[in-house]
Amino acid sequence: MSYLTLAMAKGRTADQTIKLLETAEIHFPAFNKKSRKLIFYDETDSFKLVYVKAIDVPTYVEKGAADIGIVGKDNIAEAQADVYEMMDLRFGTCQFVLAGLPNTAVDSGKKLTVASKYPAVTKAYFQKKGIPMETIKLNGSVELAPLIGLSDVIVDIVETGTTLRENGLKVIDTIEAISTRLIVNKASFATKSERIHLFLEKLNRALEVRM
Ligand code: PRP
Repeated sequence: MSYLTLAMAKGRTADQTIKLLETAEIHFPAFNKKSRKLIFYDETDSFKLVYVKAIDVPTYVEKGAADIGIVGKDNIAEAQADVYEMMDLRFGTCQFVLAGLPNTAVDSGKKLTVASKYPAVTKAYFQKKGIPMETIKLNGSVELAPLIGLSDVIVDIVETGTTLRENGLKVIDTIEAISTRLIVNKASFATKSERIHLFLEKLNRALEVRM
């Protein structure tokens, strides 16, 4: 039988994902975050786990290289991939926010420069608001941009609020709540329907146990 391939995001939520899979009695004994290996197999040899950068998870799933992906809503929204979003796993919770130095005006009519790791989400937000803007794509430490005049404001994720606070930035608007979601490749959902449904049921039961 072919494997059901799961793409799991590297980083903050990997431990919680592995714990949830273990609660669902799906074990990847060789998995170790520190290992440089990128593919792991479960004990029953039915699941293949690929361990990839979070922003790439939706691409693996959309293209069918993985049947299922477990990744934050921030990366799903940014990737704009054509996949089914099937479950909210309720961990990795944080928020997309617009933030800047205190008293920054965003609706003065002047074109805003907005730094973000999430240019697509940023553009969509400002288009909806009808505010003219230009995006500066950064890959990290986004909070620095308004402090040194690279941008007027930032769009970023906030979890504890510590990074904003320690850099003297304030939330101007809350854009969207984020959590870890389960996504499914559209073709796999048809061709591997039974196995995917069984897997989703197992995860649902595991989520109930964890609550
Ligand atoms: C993320 C995000 C914020 C920070 C928010 O960055 O982009 O900078 O975490 O978390 P907090 O509200 O708990 O402080 P990450 O840690 O992924 O690092 P990066 O700056 O390199 O992107």
